Amino acid sequence: MSHKVAVLVGSLRKDSFNRKIADAIAAVAPAGLAFEQIPIGDLPFYNQDLETDSPPKQWTEFRQRIKAADAVLFVTPEYNRSVPAVLKNAIDVGSRPYGKSVFDGKPAAVVSVSMGNIAGFGANHHLRQSLVFLNMPVLQQPEAYIANAGSLINESTGKVQNDATEKFLRGFAEAFDKWIGKIRG
Ligand code: FNR
Repeated sequence: MSHKVAVLVGSLRKDSFNRKIADAIAAVAPAGLAFEQIPIGDLPFYNQDLETDSPPKQWTEFRQRIKAADAVLFVTPEYNRSVPAVLKNAIDVGSRPYGKSVFDGKPAAVVSVSMGNIAGFGANHHLRQSLVFLNMPVLQQPEAYIANAGSLINESTGKVQNDATEKFLRGFAEAFDKWIGKIRG
């Protein structure tokens, strides 16, 4: 059975390591998973005053795209031991209006990617706190903390150049595939 996975990348940077890791996961994932990166950079900041009969069209489009997905993959850097504001904003936008969260019940997985050794652990777990509240069943194992991203990705091709990391990402994608199947049936 095939499943559509919405991918939210927490970095807007053109050469983002997180985006490259998101691409690498899609490249090695089982054929039954179709990944689509959903842009979050143009979402107006969440403001409840805009939650009228005609909210910003970017919000509506974003909500529709998440709603159409079977699962959500979060790939995020760590900013000051948490997730970047742009990702938190996307989560807030998708979670409202109250009672109509497009995230509710969707299986999810979290990957944190960093140039440093701590591998975005703080962001990874801060994000998991929100996902509990959003009622998203999150893949627990394998945990995915991708450290030292600068040396894992080939500068000219933009692809993962480390066999062990590629193998890990393949195993992670397979586990996510099974997890989605278990939750969605
Ligand atoms: C960072 N960075 C960072 N790294 C980290 O390991 N822990 C942290 O708390 C922070 N904090 C932080 C704050 C801000 C405002 C910036 C801009 C950066 C470094 C960050 O992880 C690094 O720039 C990554 O490469 C960002 O991911 P992308 O853009 O390559 O996907």
